[in-house]
Amino acid sequence: MGFPHKSHPRETPVLSTHFGDSEARSLSGWRARGGYRALEQALGMTPAEIVNVVKDSGLRGRGGAGFPTGLKWSFMKPGDGKPHYLCCNADESEPGTFKDREIMRWTPHALIEGCAIASHAIGAETCYIYIRGEFTEPLQTVGAALDEAYRDGILGKSAMGTGKRIDIYIHKGAGAYICGEETALMNSIEGRRGNPRIKPPFPAVAGLFGQPTTINNVETLAAVPPILTNGAEWYKAMSLSNPKSTGTKLFSVCGNIARPGNYEVTMGFPFREFLHDICGGARPGHTLKAVIPGGSSVPIQTMQEADATLMDYEGFVANGSMLGSGGVIVFDDSVCMVRMIGRLARFYAHESCAQCTQCREGTAWVTKILERMENGGGTTRDLDTLLELSENMTGKTICVLSDSCAAPVVSGIQKFRHEFEAHINGKRCPMRSAAAA
Ligand SMILES: Cc1cc2nc3c(=O)[nH]c(=O)nc-3n(C[C@H](O)[C@H](O)[C@H](O)COP(=O)(O)O)c2cc1C
Repeated sequence: MGFPHKSHPRETPVLSTHFGDSEARSLSGWRARGGYRALEQALGMTPAEIVNVVKDSGLRGRGGAGFPTGLKWSFMKPGDGKPHYLCCNADESEPGTFKDREIMRWTPHALIEGCAIASHAIGAETCYIYIRGEFTEPLQTVGAALDEAYRDGILGKSAMGTGKRIDIYIHKGAGAYICGEETALMNSIEGRRGNPRIKPPFPAVAGLFGQPTTINNVETLAAVPPILTNGAEWYKAMSLSNPKSTGTKLFSVCGNIARPGNYEVTMGFPFREFLHDICGGARPGHTLKAVIPGGSSVPIQTMQEADATLMDYEGFVANGSMLGSGGVIVFDDSVCMVRMIGRLARFYAHESCAQCTQCREGTAWVTKILERMENGGGTTRDLDTLLELSENMTGKTICVLSDSCAAPVVSGIQKFRHEFEAHINGKRCPMRSAAAA
């Protein structure tokens, strides 16, 4: 089942150490690799002690926003007499991102262990792992691992015999991108339509079933057991750049690149070396043109920007984009940027929950204009209209889906304006005509 995973010598495998090792999937295999020692240690600690270790480690959310994990956990007030919940976000629908499914496929117990530690740290007896419905194999591997963990007494009414209840359930999504947004995810678990909620109240105050809730990404939670085992200092020391971005990060690489796949590197790794040495650079006969480094919701980088980037939260921002979810989409000289951005806009228009006018109308109009332009019917005024629409789609809605649609449009027009103008002036797509000639 699956492909053999071989690390590149310049990778730093922590989460991916056992990718491709099918024996690591079983409870006995996981224990033989040191599994569940971190949970045992955590259950002997107070929640505040665990939160402090995670705070000290500098771990930040790997789902996209990069919020400090320990700080998020500290918002869950102990002793408030309310049930607390943990939701693990395994929806992973962001185009270009395919790392969480690999964690679930190969190391399901790493995720369960992380969920159990986090549950204890935030005072939750119940955790839901919200898995995207199309993830047939991850659903099966995490389900089988949960069964084993219950049979062994790791989970249940007395987790590892400590008298603390920790229950973990899988909630299967139905493949809507919007259900990855944390408040839509909670609505979906509650059996409602997956529409984002207005914040405040924030989930730590009133989340799932109106109770205090923490939502964390799969990769964030899977990073917690090695942090507890090896210590906050070990994690912090694995940063090549700055103390605000610590540890390792899994990057999913796809598009026009010689060796696509998931790669784990330390924060601050030079992006140029990552793309060329680890991922093999451009395909033979082509040159790289642009890259979207953090899943489709972040601004496009030119290769000059990418070449100057150190791969961490601050490094991508300093060079015109964001780290986001770590989904690296690479474009070479064979790609029409107008077509590509139009294709992304169509995705957002399809996935908009349609609650907010700016998003419902904006994503649809941006798609229409870009597709008309790609087919030769664009005007110079369209470029201003696209920028105006994007302005109205940014920072104005309940969630950031519409901002995500605007990011590639604005950065695309700013950085590749000549390609838009070539479509307008030539009244056709120059790339398509060149391919047909
Ligand atoms: C439209 C939309 C889709 C999202 N999809 C995901 C997703 O698939 N997985 C994920 O972890 N976070 C996703 N997020 C971010 C979550 O809302 C949330 O910030 C994240 O799960 C928090 O976990 P973290 O702090 O561990 O990163 C999405 C956000 C938006 C606005």
